[in-house]
Amino acid sequence: MATMKSLIGLINKIQRACTVLGDHGGEGMSLWEALPTVAVVGGQSSGKSSVLESVVGRDFLPRGSGIVTRRPLVLQLHKTEDGTTEYAEFLHAPRKKFTDFAAVRKEIEDETDRMTGKSKAISNIPIQLSIYSPNVVNLTLIDLPGLTKVAVEGQPESIVADIENMVRSYVEKPNCIILAISPANQDIATSDAIKLAKEVDPTGERTFGVATKLDIMDKGTDCLDVLEGRAYRLQHPWVGIVNRSQADINKRVDMIAARRKEREYFETSPEYGHLASRMGSEYLAKLLSQHLETVIRQKIPSIVALINKSIDEINAELDRIGRPIAVDSGSYYPERLAKCYILHMPGFFLTVWRFVCRFL
Ligand code: GDP
Ligand code: NA
Ligand code: MG
Repeated sequence: MATMKSLIGLINKIQRACTVLGDHGGEGMSLWEALPTVAVVGGQSSGKSSVLESVVGRDFLPRGSGIVTRRPLVLQLHKTEDGTTEYAEFLHAPRKKFTDFAAVRKEIEDETDRMTGKSKAISNIPIQLSIYSPNVVNLTLIDLPGLTKVAVEGQPESIVADIENMVRSYVEKPNCIILAISPANQDIATSDAIKLAKEVDPTGERTFGVATKLDIMDKGTDCLDVLEGRAYRLQHPWVGIVNRSQADINKRVDMIAARRKEREYFETSPEYGHLASRMGSEYLAKLLSQHLETVIRQKIPSIVALINKSIDEINAELDRIGRPIAVDSGSYYPERLAKCYILHMPGFFLTVWRFVCRFL
């Protein structure tokens, strides 16, 4: 199990490197596409940010009614082993360690505005954030703007389709594990998340159904048909969640208390008590991590093949541009700099390759 943990850590590193390099993988499938990620999909205010925060165990995401998430957020969780180290780091601001998670939220907002202006416009370009904490499992999550049905004041008519297309571009990748968030206080048959998930993953093999807001369903109704897999059967079991309500957030109920409350909710629930061990945010995080490990193990051969292909391509590129490498101060220009950068890559890929080989 320890080795699988470090393998997920390795995958996170590869994904980061691929993003930095703008996916230097040549034609066809790139490394980025070969690696599994988990994307959170759902309608606006279905509870996506709340679920993500629960999985991470910290409050750090911009939240609110309406369209708050306007750029994809690629969130890499790294479990630290010393039991105390906890910080966040953005790819666009490397070396700056955030220990104040309110500042992380502010930086996500600011960085969103930098790209889109203070409008309600959206951008396809992801914000990349790593969180190091003893309280997380190793996982890469992608938060996406909420699916919506109508454009609001200040948004172009195309926004409904734009968001759906952006979300689809992430979840249609065969390596994307879909966390389909559906609020239980609305009809799950009309859930945007399930609709899109069914479209891109008809067999349901990479879709996890998550029912939020179990606590605020109409009196006299319950979600058992869904949670027990009778209503909308997916290959993976549905997980029911009770996030903090807006009142809890206003009262600043912290994450630990929220998890305790959630656990108590299920353990004492007349409807869901018999399912308690398979419900809640912590169980969802565990389920995801286990699934990710299984998927990564299956993928190792194709990852190794892709890495070899990248090494070959880089070597060919080096043969083409020559293998010098002293930047003579007189003839400094960006292209030369880019080539210097590429020259560092074979070492990187070889290191990764050797690492992966240890698991074969
Ligand atoms: P997002 O727009 O999908 O990211 O949704 P948010 O996580 O921001 O949640 C939207 C609103 O619904 C917030 O006011 C949350 O407090 C509330 N909310 C989310 N999940 C639950 C839940 O399970 N129970 C209750 N009572 N409220 C929830
Ligand atoms: Na929202
Ligand atoms: Mg949100």
